[in-house]
Amino acid sequence: MQDIRTYPDAHGLAHAAAEHFMAIASEAIAARGRFSVALAGGSTPRPLYEHLATGKLASQLPWSSVHVFWGDERCVPPNHPDSNYAMARETLLDHVPIPPPNVHRIRGEMDPTEAAVVYERTLRQFFVPGPEPEMVTFDLVLLGMGTDGHTASLFPGSDLLDEQRRWVAAHHAHQARGWRVTLTPVAINAARHVTFLVSGAAKAEILRQVLADARQPDPLPAQIVAPRSGNLLWLLDSPAAALL
Ligand code: 6PG
Repeated sequence: MQDIRTYPDAHGLAHAAAEHFMAIASEAIAARGRFSVALAGGSTPRPLYEHLATGKLASQLPWSSVHVFWGDERCVPPNHPDSNYAMARETLLDHVPIPPPNVHRIRGEMDPTEAAVVYERTLRQFFVPGPEPEMVTFDLVLLGMGTDGHTASLFPGSDLLDEQRRWVAAHHAHQARGWRVTLTPVAINAARHVTFLVSGAAKAEILRQVLADARQPDPLPAQIVAPRSGNLLWLLDSPAAALL
């Protein structure tokens, strides 16, 4: 059963997503002393990150217990306008007292294959040994979705949709016109909470297909997201949800 919550507009969506983020963070820190989150890239999460960086919300979290990762990264330098790290740094990380060692970016400036190896090593050092041996259990993975149904950097027709072993992979996504490093479905589906943020009328048709049509992840990669034991939540604004 999909948990789908709809809000009037992108602003309402950002507020709800921030409350969701804070609730999971507080629970994780209370239960395990730390909160691990993989941030989404693209433009949809910007209002969420900006909201998290403002006023009372930012002061509510013990940022020294927060560890930030990314669900995927474009293979560009960290100060490049296309960098998902740069967007999160500009909107959130530069505005909260998170210790630099707690920011685990994907090295977009490196050779993509090497960057994937380094990032997977970072995940294994952080998560293993964990509650489930050999598993990467993010407390929260935030995801966006493209108008072609991709999520993270898992694009239609990608071999990574069938990946069973690696947590991280690099590949040249012709749809993205460049190299990407991405979490694989193995890592995403091991998370305690996976939350999609989808906003805007342009996503309405693809969202209808992803949520209502038969399961076929190859053309609709967002359908590969099915947490093994975690929670899956869709946070939408009304324009995106218009055809549901
Ligand atoms: C990226 C993201 C990607 C994004 C979707 C939606 O690196 O671009 O990981 O999966 O979430 O493309 O992007 P928008 O939020 O900009 O529509």
